[in-house]
Amino acid sequence: MAGCDSFPRMFDLQGKTCRELISAAKIAARCAELGAQITREHKADGRDLVLVGVMKGSVIFLADLCRQVELACTIDLIGIASYGDETTTSGVVQITSDLSKPIEGKHVIIVEDIIDTGLTVHYLLENFRTRSPKSVKVCALLHKPDRSLREVPIDYLGFSIPNDFVVGYGLDYAQAYRNLPFIGVVEGTGH
Ligand code: IMP
Ligand code: MG
Repeated sequence: MAGCDSFPRMFDLQGKTCRELISAAKIAARCAELGAQITREHKADGRDLVLVGVMKGSVIFLADLCRQVELACTIDLIGIASYGDETTTSGVVQITSDLSKPIEGKHVIIVEDIIDTGLTVHYLLENFRTRSPKSVKVCALLHKPDRSLREVPIDYLGFSIPNDFVVGYGLDYAQAYRNLPFIGVVEGTGH
C-alpha cells in the first residue's frame, strides 16, 4: 500500500520488539466490510445515524470507517480520560470533552479503537442511555476477549486479538505511535 514502506514493519519500542500484526491493507479491507454492513443496516434511518468516535484512539478508524458508510449520517467525538498507567486502564472514566450535540432520538454507534477490559465502553453505554437515543450500538476495530471484565455487546468488530499490547492506527504507547499505518504488537507484553 502506498506510503507504508517508509514505516519499518519491525522496530525497537523502548527495548521491546514491535512487529506488524495487522497490515494497513487488511485494516482497509475490514473497514470497507464494516462500512457496508452499517450502511445496509441503517438504510432506513441514515439521517438519524451518528458515529461517535472516542478520542483520541479511534479518530483514524472513524475517519476511514465513515467514508465507507454510504448514508447521510453525522459524526461526533467524545473525549475520555481513564486513569491508569501507560498500558492499562483502571476503569475510572471521566468525560474530558463531551459530544457537540444531543443524541436524543438518534441511532448512535460508538466507534472505539479497542475493547480491552470493556470498562470504558460499559461506562459510555450507561452514560449515553440516559440521553434518550433511539439506539446505541458499538463498533470496535479490535477486541481482546481474554481481558474482558465487563461483558459489552460489540455489534461491529474488526479483529479479535491476543492479550499483547498493540500500537498504531490511532492506538498509542504513552501517546506516541498513533500514526503508524498498521497495527503493531509489542512482544512480551501479554498480561
Ligand atoms: P478498556 O476500558 O479496558 O476496554 O480499554 C479501553 C481503552 O484502553 C482503549 O480505548 C485504549 O485507549 C486503551 N487500550 C487498551 N488496550 C490497549 C492496547 O493494547 N494498546 C493501546 N491502547 C489500549
Ligand atoms: Mg481509546
